[in-house]
Amino acid sequence: MKYFKLQTLCLRALVVGLFCAVTCSAQDITTLEKIGPVVSLSKTEKSVTLNCQDNSQVQLTVLAPDLIRVRAAFTKSIPTRDHSWAIAKTDWSTPRWNLKEASDLITITTDELEVAIRRSPLLIEFRDARTHQLLNADERPMSYDAKGRLTSLLFDPKAGMFVAASKRLGFDEHFYGLGEKAARLDKRRLSFINWNSDTPGYIEGKDPIYQTIPFYIGLQRGVAYGIFFDNSYRSYFNFGRTSQERAWFGAEGGEMNYYFFYGPSIKKILGRYADLTGHMQLPPMWALGNQQSRWSYYPDTMVEEVVNEYRKRDLPLDVMYLDIDYMNGYRVFTFDKERFPAPKALTEKLGRQGVKIVTIVDPGVKHPTDKNERYHAFDQGFEKNFFQRRRNGDLFVPRVWPGDSVFVDFTLPEARRWWGDLHRAYVDNGIAGIWNDMNEPSDFVDQTGKNQLDVVSYDEGEKTTHAKNRNTFALLMARATYEGLERLQPDRRPYVITRAAYAGIQRYSTMWTGDTNSTWDALALNIPMFTSLGLSGEPFVGSDIGGFIGRGNGELLVRSYQVGFLAPFCRNHKENDGYDQEPWRFGKHYEDIIRKYLKLRYELLPYLYTALEEAHRTGVPPFRPLLLNYQDDPSTYNLDDQFMVGDDLLVAPILKPDVTRRLVYLPEGPWYDYWTNKKYIGGTAISVEAPLDVVPMFVRGGAIIPSGPALNYIGEKPVDPITFAIYPDNNGLASTSLYEDDGLSPAYKRGAFRRTAVSARRGLRGIVVSVAAPQGSYNPGPRKFSFVMKADDRRFKEVTIADDGQAREVEIREH
Ligand code: GLC
Repeated sequence: MKYFKLQTLCLRALVVGLFCAVTCSAQDITTLEKIGPVVSLSKTEKSVTLNCQDNSQVQLTVLAPDLIRVRAAFTKSIPTRDHSWAIAKTDWSTPRWNLKEASDLITITTDELEVAIRRSPLLIEFRDARTHQLLNADERPMSYDAKGRLTSLLFDPKAGMFVAASKRLGFDEHFYGLGEKAARLDKRRLSFINWNSDTPGYIEGKDPIYQTIPFYIGLQRGVAYGIFFDNSYRSYFNFGRTSQERAWFGAEGGEMNYYFFYGPSIKKILGRYADLTGHMQLPPMWALGNQQSRWSYYPDTMVEEVVNEYRKRDLPLDVMYLDIDYMNGYRVFTFDKERFPAPKALTEKLGRQGVKIVTIVDPGVKHPTDKNERYHAFDQGFEKNFFQRRRNGDLFVPRVWPGDSVFVDFTLPEARRWWGDLHRAYVDNGIAGIWNDMNEPSDFVDQTGKNQLDVVSYDEGEKTTHAKNRNTFALLMARATYEGLERLQPDRRPYVITRAAYAGIQRYSTMWTGDTNSTWDALALNIPMFTSLGLSGEPFVGSDIGGFIGRGNGELLVRSYQVGFLAPFCRNHKENDGYDQEPWRFGKHYEDIIRKYLKLRYELLPYLYTALEEAHRTGVPPFRPLLLNYQDDPSTYNLDDQFMVGDDLLVAPILKPDVTRRLVYLPEGPWYDYWTNKKYIGGTAISVEAPLDVVPMFVRGGAIIPSGPALNYIGEKPVDPITFAIYPDNNGLASTSLYEDDGLSPAYKRGAFRRTAVSARRGLRGIVVSVAAPQGSYNPGPRKFSFVMKADDRRFKEVTIADDGQAREVEIREH
């Protein structure tokens, strides 16, 4: 009995130990070996290389006045191989910079940054070049784990050592970004792991989840910097969770390789991050339309019924999703002959109703159960040797929806091309976009990844293992898909949506936050998750509206739409054994409210699309935390139960049941209640009524909001008239810039867009509106512009003019 007890105890200890080894992030980096000190240095046109006493090397490269790359090789020289799947731009033209050497200090100065490197101990400090204000400083020299102390069970000894960089934690420092984390907006006092994981039903605090974006922003006293730790191994970020002294990051292998961005504005950092890792390309405009999904709608008549229901009920809809059951036995690139006998006829029929179809494509390619089974995707991939293999040469056979499967080695360029070309099976059937799921990659045999550790990928000839390639698997799959769609339909913008990701994913794909719960807590988490993704270079985000797992109700669904109707990705989706939750499923009362918000989304499309184009061009996301627009206002630093869309709309949804009133924080300046036009003076929190049919929404004084008519789907009719609603600031001024293009083709990249600046000021007898001559070669055709003054104290007439593409001025008079 005693023996038995002991055995159970030991077993328990072992389980806890194992669990900790896999999941703990409380790594103690203070025991690690430190790099340095510096004994000599060499300089090239772009970089300074420091040679250290321990034979390590550190290289600092000046990419831009506000962007420095730091690379360290421990006890060896910087390798000549330098490749990252995340990086989009390597041809930086070196800016002006200089190097100063003193006995104890080496200083690199650009127009914006001053990097001071102490030789012994080797400590790097970043300062503002003009004010010399300290931005970020090493707390200890960069370090490495020569003795293998800090490794989890997922550590691959062939991958190298644990490497870490530790920074002094500022007393008042806030941390943002880090991609998709089930956590609040400000990540101070939290720690995280990056190891892409399939985590259905995750709740706040669950970590890691699906994506790895090892990029964060530090903000102290209104001044921001960014750090992108471009290392795809299992990585750790600790923002002062276990120490008052340090915020550190590290990884179980690979290089210490990070990029330091200087703001001081977060917007500027996001722009640079987009330059470095790639700008989001504009998706087709219909991707901003309302989308409906279900695991799974089948057969084809069921899909038609749902669409008919939408149309009958006057609910707008642009996209329907086909989840895994459309396939023949979960074989990707096939259709089930009984459920979907004529996919082309289906897409054509729905196309006439304005509805596009997106199909799911998982990475698992079904492994035949017997030798005689023929399946083109497996046969071709096998013959070409495109599937992942273990180190001993065995085919790696994970288990996913089709049962035994294989995964493509997406690091092989020919395999990516082949995979992309396979999408002809969809494109030829009129499928409009591709949904990549399960691409962590998820394996039912073992979700931790341990079973995959000896899977080798080509990786530019380096033949590296899972430890390096897991986190970039989805990025490369999305890339193969995007590039395939681009080749197959060069005149269309590809539309890809993904669950897992690595930094750089925005070049290829939009994303959603995976398998959420139908709970209020999960709804509340939407806001910090969307805004954090936006602060991590992923602007096109959204969540399953209504939640994916469990039973929702009418109230939760309505409140969920009141968040989702302004997220870039607006899709209702539900698990297979969950309760139905299309907008009408809880009765007319709720359906009517949902209709109001879906219609409003379509009316606001000119505004939303303008904000999306801004994200493409500047990296600044449409769905924003308030702090992005009000970086100098500390009241916004932890605010994650309200958000902004673009510069001008502030939304404060209800995130709890039975609540019909809430506090809304309005930053400095005038604000207008979107529903009543009542004016408020910001810089304070106000209490507002929010019955079920109202989401508190405010417009920034000084804004002009362009909107169009309600539509059943994008492209149903011309956006005519475009109404410009004017919300003057305290000086009676307001302005905006409207972006338009054909919404479908890549011609916008060659100048086929129209940007129209509109501004308003007080005139002698009313309000004078100026429409500037538009920029760009896109011609939207004849249409009207209407101008409406939104002010609660005086009443103005609405004025409508024909938009003739010329600069003009119009006066709006009082009634
Ligand atoms: C995963 C996805 C979910 C999908 C399901 C079946 O759980 O996250 O959205 O419905 O797989 O494909």
